[in-house]
Amino acid sequence: MKVAVSFINSNYDLETTIKKIDESNADYIHVDMMDGIFVENSNFSVQDIKTMFKNCTKKLDVHLMCCSPNKYVREIAKIKNVEYLIIHAESHRRPIDVINMIRHTNMKVGLAISPETKVSHIVPLLNHLDQVLVMSVKPGKGGQEFMKDILYKIETLRDLREENNYHYIISVDGGINAETSKLVKEAGADMVVSGSYICKSDNYNEKIDSIR
Ligand code: DX5
Ligand code: ZN
Repeated sequence: MKVAVSFINSNYDLETTIKKIDESNADYIHVDMMDGIFVENSNFSVQDIKTMFKNCTKKLDVHLMCCSPNKYVREIAKIKNVEYLIIHAESHRRPIDVINMIRHTNMKVGLAISPETKVSHIVPLLNHLDQVLVMSVKPGKGGQEFMKDILYKIETLRDLREENNYHYIISVDGGINAETSKLVKEAGADMVVSGSYICKSDNYNEKIDSIR
């Protein structure tokens, strides 16, 4: 199981947290970008992210919780080390247009679904994706409780991938700890995003290993 670490809820300041993740066993740094419109909170600009990660070596998994995600694609593509750019299916009238935009950069394409969005809603897009991000909390903040009733979506996505030879990885974001990661692993997830469980501890590697 791959592990991406989200740093928005941490015991340390931002710079220290990012450095600790960069030096850890994590596979990716998960960057939550919020615009205050798609979700209530707002945090970083693209320029902030560029600056924050200029000395990092880990690959980035960028999660855009923003309306009109098309506005950000070109600039995010200029940030070093972005492997996945994930937009929300609910954030644009025609997600396929944004998917095609991302496809024309050197980033891989991710599509996130909020807890209320069904897999059937994104079926026509699945063959265009490198990652499907299943949200297991309401997007917008860290530290919420994992919603078990999303587990069936992971199974559905795994079955659809097998039946159709799709190539996306299935990632799960929100409320991930040692217990909930077991559940999503059994359901067929390839990657988890975990924030508070790791960044509210002192030993990042111990926590990361416990959810793998
Ligand atoms: C929620 C974010 C998550 C979140 C994960 O909107 O997308 O990435 O920060 O944090 P935890 O693990 O605390 O739920
Ligand atoms: Zn996220």
